[in-house]
Amino acid sequence: MALSDFDLVFFGGSGDLAMRKLLPAMFARDVCNDLPATARIICVGRDEMSQEAFIEMVETNAKSHVKENVDAAAWQKFLDRITYVAVDAGNVATYAALTEALRKDPSLTRVYYLATPPQLFATICENLAAVGLATSNSRVVLEKPLGRDLASAKQINADVGEVFAESQIYRIDHYLGKETVQNLLALRFGNILFEPLWRREWISDVQITIAEKIGVGNRLGYYDNSGALRDMLQNHLLQLLCIVAMEPPTSIAPDAVRDAKLQVLRSLKRFTPTTLSQNIVRGQYRSGYVDGQPVPGYRDEPGAPKQSKTETFVAMKAEIDTWRWAGVPFYLRTGKRMADRLAEIVVRFKTIPHSIFNQPTSSFQPNSLVIRLQPDEGLSMNLMAKTPGDSMRLKQAELELDFREQFKSPRMEAYERLLLDVLRGQLTLFMRGDELEAAWEWVEPILEYWDQDDTTPAPYTSGTWGPAAASALIGRDGLQWREEALPED
Ligand code: BG6
Repeated sequence: MALSDFDLVFFGGSGDLAMRKLLPAMFARDVCNDLPATARIICVGRDEMSQEAFIEMVETNAKSHVKENVDAAAWQKFLDRITYVAVDAGNVATYAALTEALRKDPSLTRVYYLATPPQLFATICENLAAVGLATSNSRVVLEKPLGRDLASAKQINADVGEVFAESQIYRIDHYLGKETVQNLLALRFGNILFEPLWRREWISDVQITIAEKIGVGNRLGYYDNSGALRDMLQNHLLQLLCIVAMEPPTSIAPDAVRDAKLQVLRSLKRFTPTTLSQNIVRGQYRSGYVDGQPVPGYRDEPGAPKQSKTETFVAMKAEIDTWRWAGVPFYLRTGKRMADRLAEIVVRFKTIPHSIFNQPTSSFQPNSLVIRLQPDEGLSMNLMAKTPGDSMRLKQAELELDFREQFKSPRMEAYERLLLDVLRGQLTLFMRGDELEAAWEWVEPILEYWDQDDTTPAPYTSGTWGPAAASALIGRDGLQWREEALPED
């Protein structure tokens, strides 16, 4: 669907996210001719800066994050769309410059993308309203972190809701923009094969892992106050869990999908202090080697408090109290400085009830479906097959679907897709306010428990799969994390 003309305003427009992700994503869509000829990008920052100085900044900081070879003419055409405007978010008088920069035509789509600390969301919305810029053709995009607990998330919803209707609010979770997440929808609801089996009678357990090799980098200020639970689990992992576990929505319409996800969040079994101590593990990386290079431990990262209790790893066993999922464990895991960069969902089916072959039932690997989001996108299905030769021996074999191989068409980064969706007014891949609150509500007892807990996160060596306690957590159920269960090469 062709986009109609727009003014896209990036608050935090000279910041890290704008330079690393947002501007490169818009350039990528521009190169593909997705943007209307007169569409404009207005970057708002605190500092007074000339247009030339800002463009220089984009050249230095954003250009290197562009995926393709940059064609000089296309790049210049993109730069011509950009206007820099200095606004002090807290000072309503300075919004005059923004009013000046925006076109007045009410048929234009106007998007305010708040890539700022969440403490500024309320002030920015209030000031936009005060100067008459929060019009009915406006949309607002909220970047994470969307709160640090239930109360702050509710506050954000209430503050932004004072100015914008829910249908104008786009809460970003960039994992929902990833190609494979949508392929998961396609897999579940575009095929007849899986849905009958997608339930407790046939599925034994589900693992969802987002492992990263990187450490905290230069984000320590934010991260030390946040930790893996808030940074990754409350949002990205729970969103993936929702897509795996939700009931079939009646359509792909925003509220159909979001209602189905909300139902999952509300059905997650609540933790109590006792169940928490058994079902959740937090870890913190120590020094080690990643890709053969020595890396410091979390507490030795520049600026890190020497006694920091911030978790850089979390693993848990969650359960969903519904007819479909009762008793099926969902093992969730994420961490920094792990052995590999990997994001995947593993759905393991039950074992066969009886072996007709001359080998015991226990020698049959359960079928499993592996949905890979990163680094390469694909699906694999593990089946038992006969090994060639005279004897009837069965062994695990893999059916592999590599999306890149299968579909040669160019890929789209998550931010490209999500920005296009905002500009089209398509809300399906964005969280609704009640979803955000339901996710925080479920996570809150964990935060409270850790707050009161004197123990520190379990240490793990950088470049490994996390603390031994995480293997023990799943091991108690007689299972292993997927990479632990893979045969040695
Ligand atoms: C962000 C987190 O939301 O997601 C980061 O704040 C994390 O800490 C990042 O590194 C991971 O995203 P991706 O797309 O690289 O897996």
